[in-house]
Amino acid sequence: MDSVVEIKQLTKVFKNTKAVDGVSFSIKQGEVVAILGPNGAGKTTTMLMMLGLLNPTAGVARLFNEDAKAISVRERIGVMLQEVSVMDAMKVKELIKLFQSYYPNPLEMEKLVRLSGLSEQDLNKRTEKLSGGQKRRVGFALALAGNPELLFFDEPTVGMDISARKVFWETVRELSEQGKTIIFTTHYLQEADDIASRIILFNEGSIVADGNPADIKKKLSKQSVSFIAKNDINKELFVQLPFVSDVFQKNDRMYIVTDDTDSILATIFKGNLQVQDIQIEKGRLEEAFEQLTVDREAV
Ligand SMILES: Nc1ncnc2c1ncn2[C@@H]1O[C@H](COP(=O)(O)OP(=O)(O)OP(=O)(O)O)[C@@H](O)[C@H]1O
Ligand SMILES: [Mg+2]
Repeated sequence: MDSVVEIKQLTKVFKNTKAVDGVSFSIKQGEVVAILGPNGAGKTTTMLMMLGLLNPTAGVARLFNEDAKAISVRERIGVMLQEVSVMDAMKVKELIKLFQSYYPNPLEMEKLVRLSGLSEQDLNKRTEKLSGGQKRRVGFALALAGNPELLFFDEPTVGMDISARKVFWETVRELSEQGKTIIFTTHYLQEADDIASRIILFNEGSIVADGNPADIKKKLSKQSVSFIAKNDINKELFVQLPFVSDVFQKNDRMYIVTDDTDSILATIFKGNLQVQDIQIEKGRLEEAFEQLTVDREAV
């Protein structure tokens, strides 16, 4: 049993809003899971219920096969929430030391500083004097303080500049290579595409897609091969192929919409067609996201 997160029929109703509507999934050790979805889709609410910080209206959430509120679970997880509030009137260094003291096997200060990208200067600042981005880094260091096996980040990179973002994702990669399980939400689809081994897409409180980024893109966005023909090429040559859904000409370029770009290339080379500047479009996550969350009829 290596599933570290198990949620079953999780539901949350606030007064008149069904924020989360019977959501179930399990996450295995070592997975890097991106939870995506438009504003108000229920991502944060689901995360809070997973963490035992919000009571579900119905359903169950378990971490390491235990109640998320159990101390034994708390010691194994690290969390950075959407709203960062760190205790005021303390130096960053003191705050980190305090957090380390809560855990049986904390990470050393030196390591935390390196992983979170905090500077020596930041460490000696009082927390209320920090900028938004610096606060995020402190939040990250605090999430890692207990050397957790399972990490939750809710929109971790909001307010981070480009270099902070880079440090953050490099660290996440490093943690993932150590076998840690990571669950994060983001509105930057590229981050999900680059980092996640699995994407769970939410819309209106339900899961509308769950799979690895490549499969989700393949299933929901269009792939195409396009080229500039040196001589006239008969469209019919491609139209008749079973794996081609559309062929059209735009400006001087011919586009072949397909779910098998490799076979189109094979057709071009076997037929010795005189073409130049071949381009392959493998589909974009944005497209899949839009199909599932905006234009639901299309699914
Ligand atoms: N404490 C609350 N009281 C009442 N309604 C709430 C509460 N928290 C969330 N909601 C509602 O539940 C729904 C889901 O909110 P949630 O914060 O989970 O969305 P989200 O997917 O995290 O969105 P975002 O991308 O904007 O962070 C929204 O309609 C929101 O208004
Ligand atoms: Mg949210």
